[in-house]
Amino acid sequence: MASSFSQSFYVLALFIILVSWSSRVTTSRKLVELEACSRERHEQWMMEHGKDYMDDAEKEKRYQIYRENVEFIESFNANNNETFKLGVNQFADKTFEEFKSSALNGNKKGSLDLLGTEIEKPFKYENVTEIPETMDWRQRGAVTPIKDQNVCGSCWAFATVAITESIHQITTGKLESLSEQELIDCVRGEKTSGCDGGYMEDAFKFILRKKGIASEAKYPYKGVDRTCNSTIEANTTASIKGYQMVPRNNETALLQAVANQPVGVYVEAGHRAFQFYSGGVFTGKCRTKTDHVVAIVGYGSTKEGIKYWIVKNSWGTNWGEKGYMRMKRDIISKKGLCGLAKKPLYPIA
Ligand SMILES: *[C@@H]1O[C@H](CO)[C@@H](O)[C@H](O)[C@H]1NC(C)=O
Ligand SMILES: *[C@@H]1O[C@H](CO)[C@@H](O)[C@H](O)[C@H]1NC(C)=O
Ligand SMILES: *[C@@H]1O[C@H](CO)[C@@H](O)[C@H](O)[C@H]1NC(C)=O
Ligand SMILES: *[C@@H]1O[C@H](CO)[C@@H](O)[C@H](O)[C@H]1NC(C)=O
Ligand SMILES: *[C@@H]1O[C@H](CO)[C@@H](O)[C@H](O)[C@H]1NC(C)=O
Repeated sequence: MASSFSQSFYVLALFIILVSWSSRVTTSRKLVELEACSRERHEQWMMEHGKDYMDDAEKEKRYQIYRENVEFIESFNANNNETFKLGVNQFADKTFEEFKSSALNGNKKGSLDLLGTEIEKPFKYENVTEIPETMDWRQRGAVTPIKDQNVCGSCWAFATVAITESIHQITTGKLESLSEQELIDCVRGEKTSGCDGGYMEDAFKFILRKKGIASEAKYPYKGVDRTCNSTIEANTTASIKGYQMVPRNNETALLQAVANQPVGVYVEAGHRAFQFYSGGVFTGKCRTKTDHVVAIVGYGSTKEGIKYWIVKNSWGTNWGEKGYMRMKRDIISKKGLCGLAKKPLYPIA
């Protein structure tokens, strides 16, 4: 009796040891496979984005960051029931800090409050009552293709240029790509400093003073701070007559404006969900400490009735919906999602 008991005890113990050993082997094999798979994915991603690293140490460092970001993205998509998804884009080998310091508005936060008094009044569109259900200035030929600011805090120049290109097209019928580099090199506002960040207000004042802005072709983008080339600067392609602010914290007023022309907005974009946004209606949990500038080029609503703004960003076409983001419209907070309604500006032509 006793011997048969100890025999079956041994058999059982052996069985347990075997099972746990074999499962440990499979787990570690799975880990190795996963590792190899994501190293392969990293190589693939490097090719897609034309990435090349200085040496193996740098490559290893970038791989670890890449892997951590991919895990964040996949776990976000798996565990959140949101109206938007994240994806592995060109920022995948950058730490969040690196992303914040290179893709946003340099070190500039907020908008320029002091310039508020110089903005023309009254609000041009205050009496507008005819507001279409949807508006997409891209379909009306008033929006140039998506551009890429690269490693330079020049979003302020891209947003200013985007909405100036649009009003130029709306008033003249000609869609012409205009120069961000001219603004980077030549705008020397008290608070605006090229790749270190800036404000649409300073850019508009410059275009007004100089009576125009050069074309992209004449003054092409370099993505670095250079000295102003006054020869090219003198040869302007588009001009404006002034600029205005949409009444603050009022998405209804913003709608009146966007129904008539694209509008530049300050937003808070320093979030990983913003960094890796790949599509859908963005409802990220951002606050309203604005650190980025983008252009609203339309609006609409989904089949489910979720209202959104169509936002043109300056991070290339690999980010978001081919470079665009749909941001939730008419939210409870008067400041708008990510603060987009805090200080919307637009040029008058
Ligand atoms: C996910 O969201 C949709 C739409 O808001 C909702 O109908 C659905 O029940 C949600 N599913 C889960 C698992 O929360
Ligand atoms: C809007 O209408 C009011 C009342 O008629 C008028 O005083 C105001 O000038 C109008 N605003 C604009 C921008 O036309
Ligand atoms: C400015 O641009 C003109 C025309 O492209 C060019 O000939 C000239 O060398 C440039 N000047 C400087 C200082 O870069
Ligand atoms: C301005 O640009 C136009 C078109 O690119 C060119 O034909 C013209 O010579 C330029 N003028 C000056 C002063 O550089
Ligand atoms: C928001 O703007 C609309 C349209 O311009 C205006 O009628 C309304 O009074 C504004 N709301 C607030 C709270 O200022």
